[in-house]
Amino acid sequence: MKDFACWIVERGSDGELKSGMARRGLADLPQGEVLVRISWTSLNYKDGLAATGHPGVAKRLPHVPGIDAVGLVEESSDPRFVQGQEVIIGGQEFGAGSWGGWSEYARVPAEWVIPLPDGLSREEAACLGVAGITAALSVRKLIDHGISPASGEVLVTGATGGVGILAVMILGRIGFRVVASTGKSDRAEWLRSFGASRSIQRSELETESDAPLLKSRWAAAIDTVGGTTLANVLRSTTVGGCVTACGLVGGQDLSLTVHPFILRGITLCGIDTSRTARDERLELWKRLSGVWKPAGLSEISHRIRLHDAEAAFTTILAGGVAGRTIIHVAD
Ligand SMILES: NC(=O)c1ccc[n+]([C@@H]2O[C@H](COP(=O)([O-])OP(=O)(O)OC[C@H]3O[C@@H](n4cnc5c(N)ncnc54)[C@H](OP(=O)(O)O)[C@@H]3O)[C@@H](O)[C@H]2O)c1
Repeated sequence: MKDFACWIVERGSDGELKSGMARRGLADLPQGEVLVRISWTSLNYKDGLAATGHPGVAKRLPHVPGIDAVGLVEESSDPRFVQGQEVIIGGQEFGAGSWGGWSEYARVPAEWVIPLPDGLSREEAACLGVAGITAALSVRKLIDHGISPASGEVLVTGATGGVGILAVMILGRIGFRVVASTGKSDRAEWLRSFGASRSIQRSELETESDAPLLKSRWAAAIDTVGGTTLANVLRSTTVGGCVTACGLVGGQDLSLTVHPFILRGITLCGIDTSRTARDERLELWKRLSGVWKPAGLSEISHRIRLHDAEAAFTTILAGGVAGRTIIHVAD
């Protein structure tokens, strides 16, 4: 039986959690119509949680982390895919309820597979990945709400993170003035070079407050942080504005009054990329490979090998990564 290398999170016979490289057979992979030989995968905050056995992400052990994969179809019982075709896997349960991309092979339902669009290399698609789709979906929600460059500045929180920097880049590319909130004071110039008009310190949004509303500061916001930051962002958004929420690195509670909603008409828009329908993901990938394609993807990518993942996921969980970490599995 053909075997392959992957990153496995499992319990040893002593009950201790083990997370590291292992070998498995193709028969160990989950059921699915498409077998993919993986070229690139990536490291996301969620993968850091999976790699440390967080039960909310690694729902069953043994588990293979990795919410993104890009590679070549090895076998497909679905006629939409042929051997050797370049494809992207991401979303749904990939890397959470089901084994993910930190592996030389993945087998998945055909519905989770997207043909690599023209205009993107496999490496660029891994750099975008679920983070890029989440950023693109957040931008699209703001535009659907009627927010345009003429509306005023758009705030992005967690701006040096994976979703954050890609949101900054997409917004900058399509003409928005972007305020980037970051905890990394040495990254202001870096953020400006990828599309931010200006930066603010993350601490400005972290102060607990009972005030029902704060001074209006931006027309809209893409929040990747949650918690007190999201509450303060909502309190500081201009009348009629829209705020998208996708993350919880700063906390999962949301403490505020209804005043932003009933006195300023703010809309809070939840983002759940994993449940985005395949047609919508196809459409977002088309935008990301064309008119919304961020310039400088290779400059925000830090490339590592799978066996070097531990140091990288420890850093991402501590909030220390700037840009995207992509993992080269095979050529
Ligand atoms: N809902 C969805 O569909 C969806 C999809 C993808 C990701 N997510 C979520 O979105 C969030 C961001 O994901 P990611 O992969 O972009 O993560 P990431 O690369 O680790 O970026 C997170 C960024 O948040 C900031 N940050 C870190 N710790 C913080 C803290 N304690 N308080 C405030 N800010 C902090 C840091 O940026 P600065 O230093 O620049 O402030 C960090 O780089 C995660 O919660 C992830 O689970 C959700």
